[in-house]
Amino acid sequence: MPGDHADRGYSAREIASFLGVLVVGLALGVGAYRAGGRLAGTGGGAVVRTAPASAAPDGVALYAASCAGCHGQQAQGGVGPALHAAAAWNSAQFAQAVLNGQAPQRPLSAVMPRFASTGMDGQPPTDAQVAAIHTFLKTLP
Ligand code: HEC
Repeated sequence: MPGDHADRGYSAREIASFLGVLVVGLALGVGAYRAGGRLAGTGGGAVVRTAPASAAPDGVALYAASCAGCHGQQAQGGVGPALHAAAAWNSAQFAQAVLNGQAPQRPLSAVMPRFASTGMDGQPPTDAQVAAIHTFLKTLP
């Protein structure tokens, strides 16, 4: 056939570029394999550390992540007020303040997030999470 010249063999240049692709591919493959091993290792460790889904929410961690920035690590106050008084509120009052910015006697300023709308970790906090934070606050001196 007249047009089949290319089918008879590969030029040195084609072979060289083919080998180049092969070497790069191999390097990437080995890299990915190693990274995969590392990631799998970390993942395994994380699974061991993660609390089972049925465990009670961690009020200390939730407070540190969502509240301490404004109210202080020990709820001593900062941008927001100290939370010792609020720790003594009943659970419905406390939940109203956290979820809807409504303190027993007055609406809270807009600086205090409405966690029912803003979410905590991307989702509205559950009653159990709010209760866990409340419980943690009661342990503070
Ligand atoms: C962006 C800062 C900010 C974050 C984050 C924040 N708060 Fe507040 N919070 C405030 C401010 C400011 C006030 C005071 C509002 C006012 O007095 O009108 C307040 C008020 C409160 C009150 C009422 C206290 C009182 O005695 O009147 C409670 C309870 C409260 N926050 C709990 C929390 C909890 C629990 C979290 C975490 C889930 C949290 N806040 C996260 C800023 C914040």
